[in-house]
Amino acid sequence: MTFELKISKGLLKEERYKLLLPQIDALIKDEINFIANISNITSVLKYSFDNFLWVGFYFTDNNNPGELVLGPFQGRVACTRIKFGQGVCGTSAERKETIIVNDVNEFPGHIVCDSLSKSEIVVPVLKNGKVLGVLDIDSERYGNFDETDKKFLSKMLENILNIFPDEKR
Ligand code: SME
Repeated sequence: MTFELKISKGLLKEERYKLLLPQIDALIKDEINFIANISNITSVLKYSFDNFLWVGFYFTDNNNPGELVLGPFQGRVACTRIKFGQGVCGTSAERKETIIVNDVNEFPGHIVCDSLSKSEIVVPVLKNGKVLGVLDIDSERYGNFDETDKKFLSKMLENILNIFPDEKR
């Protein structure tokens, strides 16, 4: 299979997301395997934006309640487990809300995986009020993420919610 992303250079962030979301839907529509689809989505996101240093998912670990475990990602080696309430990811999972961190040094308890990371967005994956996991994106630029990222990444997660298994991952 060849998948060529159609994203022209120089597009504004909003235009870029608008072109990207339908392409993500198309990319996963003929495949039912969850890990395969989630893996490709992390790649599409990583390579569609110049300043995305690390893109990945952490999933709620049903065998260890209150813990997130690393899922598919693009980027350097990351910590494998994060407790709810810890770091940006665990805080997002606990609060069930998106967290945008303009400067990771100023987020108490931020967990350093890649010292190049300067800013971060974490968007929870919510289904029927339950946290299935989080999407975490790091950037090597300060203040890289804003409400536009939150809006479109949340929409993207809504679009792909049906591929998340309810219980076992
Ligand atoms: N910085 C995150 C940890 C995950 S890595 O960025 C990949 C956090 O504070 O939760």
